[in-house]
Amino acid sequence: MTRISAHQGSARIIDLPQIHDPRGDLTFVEGGNHLPFDIARVYYLYNVPVDSERGGHAHRDLEQVIFALSGSFRIKIDDGETKTEFWLRDPRKGLYVNRMIWREMDAFSQGAVCMVLASHVYDESDYFRDYNEFQNALRGGVE
Ligand code: TYD
Repeated sequence: MTRISAHQGSARIIDLPQIHDPRGDLTFVEGGNHLPFDIARVYYLYNVPVDSERGGHAHRDLEQVIFALSGSFRIKIDDGETKTEFWLRDPRKGLYVNRMIWREMDAFSQGAVCMVLASHVYDESDYFRDYNEFQNALRGGVE
């Protein structure tokens, strides 16, 4: 994980427990315990081409925690004022991304698997997919 700059509340790494075992390590996550929200949805990205760019949106209400279950990738976070960059490569460490945060993901390693725990079910109307619209909403006091 490389933290270039920080903005409290926008994004932070959440460390999950690990049961270390020579037969293989085990990590678990409990909604309402390890996360600041109850898990409403889990989704995952796989078969991701190494030159793929994902994300490119923000959410009005959705909170997420993003994990690299296998391999690695970069997440660029932008709260409208501060840009932060994280590299995820440890399945024990998830990136909490608050609402009203623009995110972009790239630099996927071969075979990377990205798992996302989300606070709400999928709702396209929760997305800002246009960066200017996102910035206007921030300036307009949507937060
Ligand atoms: P998107 O959130 O833009 O993916 P990413 O941020 O990883 O690039 O979603 C890509 C497509 O998948 C889009 O058409 C919406 C759809 N989708 C669902 O139907 N359900 C879901 O839970 C998610 C996350 C996406």
